[in-house]
Amino acid sequence: MDMSNLEEAKAEIKRQISITELIGGYVRLNKKGSKYWGLCPFHSEKTASFSVTPDKEMYYCFGCHKYGDIFTFMMEIEKLSFMEALKLLAKKANVTLSIHHDPQLDLKRESLYDLYRRLTGSFHYLLMKSSKAAHARRYLELRGVSPELIERFQLGYAPASNSWLLSMLEKHNYSIEFIGSSGLFMEKRKRYIPYFFNRIMFPIRNSRGEVIAFGGRSLSEGGPKYLNSPETEIFKKGNNLFGLHHASGAIKENKCAYIVEGYMDVLSLHKGGIPHCVAPLGTALTEAQARLICRYTDNIILLFDGDTAGIAASLKALECLMGFDCETGVVRLPEGRDPDDILQKHGSNELKKMLKSPINSIKYLLTIASERYDSGTPRGKEEIFQFIVPYLKRISSQIKRDGYFEIIADAIHIDIASIRKDYEKQQRLLPIKAEKKEKAVHITDELFFMLALTALRYYFSDVRNSISVNHLKDEWAKEIYIALEECFRDGDDSLNSLLEKIENDELRVLILEKNTSDEFTLNPEKIIADGIAGIKKRNLLEKREEISLLIKQYEKTEPWKMKDLLVEKMVLDKEYEELRMKEDV
Ligand code: UTP
Ligand code: MN
Repeated sequence: MDMSNLEEAKAEIKRQISITELIGGYVRLNKKGSKYWGLCPFHSEKTASFSVTPDKEMYYCFGCHKYGDIFTFMMEIEKLSFMEALKLLAKKANVTLSIHHDPQLDLKRESLYDLYRRLTGSFHYLLMKSSKAAHARRYLELRGVSPELIERFQLGYAPASNSWLLSMLEKHNYSIEFIGSSGLFMEKRKRYIPYFFNRIMFPIRNSRGEVIAFGGRSLSEGGPKYLNSPETEIFKKGNNLFGLHHASGAIKENKCAYIVEGYMDVLSLHKGGIPHCVAPLGTALTEAQARLICRYTDNIILLFDGDTAGIAASLKALECLMGFDCETGVVRLPEGRDPDDILQKHGSNELKKMLKSPINSIKYLLTIASERYDSGTPRGKEEIFQFIVPYLKRISSQIKRDGYFEIIADAIHIDIASIRKDYEKQQRLLPIKAEKKEKAVHITDELFFMLALTALRYYFSDVRNSISVNHLKDEWAKEIYIALEECFRDGDDSLNSLLEKIENDELRVLILEKNTSDEFTLNPEKIIADGIAGIKKRNLLEKREEISLLIKQYEKTEPWKMKDLLVEKMVLDKEYEELRMKEDV
């Protein structure tokens, strides 16, 4: 079967089969509110804690925490493989799965390659020549993207027009079905609206160099800053890396590859004479992307922004890469800097110098951990070790892991034998511990707000306009924010996709519980407004506090610095007053 059709087939089957009817065949369900309840088929119990939520197409047991959709239900209850469950449900739903090779599909892929190739040319032509793209050219110039780079990457411009692309394709006699599944349009009220509108276009290529998708940077206010093409027959998200085609030669030559955060960073590194770099496409680094880059080199260096989001992304990428047989290092940029800042301020030699001395991954993890925990206390040492355990778990070589134990032992001044023992004990106890642990989590205001957002996804676009992940303190709240953001960028608002992005098991369970309760249905607007205001207020207060401290400090020593600070404080006071006024009305 063609895997790119799998999601479609699953969606169609879900449309045809009612989850309550299907599960109702195995469990006696009673309706209560918007949910159905019954005795859990997966563990023995006397009171019903197994719930089915039809509008989310999910089931969830509050007792044993099993959850999923119709496919996982059939897999578990009938002990089937995924494929078997899929075939069974497809038959029930009257959906034919095209399991065999389909010549029609090959034709379609060829046409898609052809279309994306041509369109890359058209977008590029518009960027270079169109009078309607003057602002796009100016933007790139301001960002220091040279004509030579524009040429190398065939950057383009998607016009601010709803009809240009559609009429061009119709003129070339493409069928309406083809246009609809080309990944270039959204359907809105039975009309095709171009996916990319007034955006700088970054062609995304496969390793052969064929354009298979686009990333588009917005030149207007509002909406996501970057959009990536949706999946098509030739583009599978998470399977490709931006810049790989342009980097592959240099990666082999230099025997190493840099992974940076985004499109612009790839361009900056090229500008700085470091072409062996790639970027994931708007999501955290995936297993498939890690495998892909490991085909070219076994020496991978992460170069992410120095802000909270950048650190979080680098940690996720490290965890993924640890599972592969490669050396990983991290270049830590100063907080709030990205590669382009370094290039602008210090030039390419300085950037190259920084890139030449990455910290090895375990040392990086130790540094991050010791910024969060106090390595001077026994408890802190334990916390540091626990922070690193998930990464250690990914390593398949016992020898390598032992080597890491040694480095950790050294860093926190603990005997390596104790580390080994604790690690092994923990691995043995893990399954039991996971079931037993029922300790109540403390839900901070932030976490409550983020949990609410998982059930009120519609409001996320407002929230991300006012609050970034850097405004948050609670680690769990941050993890939710990052997952919501990734889903938002994918245009995916299903609960399942969100849960897939949450790595913390306890948090996943918590999100599930909140989504199966009706806690947030009453007055969602107020929950959202209060949440935003609360976080903003706290951040303002903290900043004001910081500035007041600085003012006190400088008053005596460096009075000439006072003026800026006082102005800044006034601005903050005013913002704070405005927030308070809003609260009072
Ligand atoms: P950044 O916000 O760091 O963007 O996101 P950038 O590449 O530095 O670009 P500029 O400098 O702001 O123009 C890093 C990457 O995350 C993805 C893109 O792949 C981007 O390159 N992203 C970001 C999205 O997919 N959607 C967004 O809304 C934002
Ligand atoms: Mn960036």
